[in-house]
Amino acid sequence: MNNHHRLTTEYLGLQLANPFVPSASPMTRDADMPKRLEDAGASAIVMHSLFEEELKNQHEQLHQFIHHQDIGHFEADSFLPWPEQMDNIKDARDNYLEILHHLKKQLDIPVIASLNGISMDGWVEHGREIEQAGADALELNIYYIAANASETAHQVEQRYIDILKALKAVVNLPISVKISSQHSAPVHFVSQLKQNGASGVVLFNRFFVPDINLDTLNIEPQLHYSSSLESLLRIRWVAIIKGQVDIDLGVTGGIHSANDSIKAILAGADVTHMCSALLMHGAKHISMIREDFIAWMDKKEYQSVIQMKGSLSQQYAIDPVAFERANYLEVIDSYSRSTEIIK
Ligand SMILES: Cc1cc2nc3c(=O)[nH]c(=O)nc-3n(C[C@H](O)[C@H](O)[C@H](O)COP(=O)(O)O)c2cc1C
Repeated sequence: MNNHHRLTTEYLGLQLANPFVPSASPMTRDADMPKRLEDAGASAIVMHSLFEEELKNQHEQLHQFIHHQDIGHFEADSFLPWPEQMDNIKDARDNYLEILHHLKKQLDIPVIASLNGISMDGWVEHGREIEQAGADALELNIYYIAANASETAHQVEQRYIDILKALKAVVNLPISVKISSQHSAPVHFVSQLKQNGASGVVLFNRFFVPDINLDTLNIEPQLHYSSSLESLLRIRWVAIIKGQVDIDLGVTGGIHSANDSIKAILAGADVTHMCSALLMHGAKHISMIREDFIAWMDKKEYQSVIQMKGSLSQQYAIDPVAFERANYLEVIDSYSRSTEIIK
């Protein structure tokens, strides 16, 4: 088998040349980064998200602009556009569709669009226009922090399912749902998503965690790039879900090297997404990962990604409980035996 075919994988009904797919990020807002990613070997690309808030704020912003112009608000001149720039205030949706059109023209690889929100306020209906604009699939990111004491785990899950069903009602595209790692019964939840029409799940959203500034005592949002270690949480859950729910699996979070990607595929992933690694090292990082991936396959005599997929999932692992609690004591024990406690 030549190297080209050895890496093929199927995800959301798409035949992909390899499992390396840049995840949603500002990279798709850039004029030439998507083409560079394709040239470096990306097999598909996930667009930055169209956010529920953007769709809702649009009308408010336009209203504010018109209002400030009417009353000749002096200070507003410094931060509001000049009247001739009015045309440049594009509807967030139009802007998104324009970028999608452009990507479809510019690239040969599939383009997966992304919708991001948390409510049932009608924003998912924009999925229809995204489908008409030529997206090959849709990722639905429900970036929801369950921070309400009166909301049950069941209600949180139902929120995801209701939004998914509303989106399914308006599009025929395959949909993957990008979920949080903070669900109390993730395998059951993923099976519910499957039953309600999800073709895939992407594990996991990486929430931006605010920090406390000890000088100003302000709560500050912060964005750190991930590291490889974060992939292990995803890999565990992919391995557990693989044999139990027949759904496509994407890993996002902590995929920085060929080794990270290989582990995720062995656990059962269909694709491995990358964001931080590409923002840190640029598009060419994909070609390096591709080479290292093939070198490992040669060393271990794997013929194809299809052969690798799930071969170390919980279902097939020699030690299936290793993915669960069973080795908990063993790990603590071996730590106690091998590590001297600093006193
Ligand atoms: C600057 C930046 C922008 C992002 N924008 C989006 C977005 O628009 N939609 C989305 O679903 N995820 C977004 N993400 C999350 C990434 O797609 C990815 O899931 C996350 O960074 C974990 O992967 P990584 O460890 O490879 O970075 C963004 C991440 C970063 C760092």
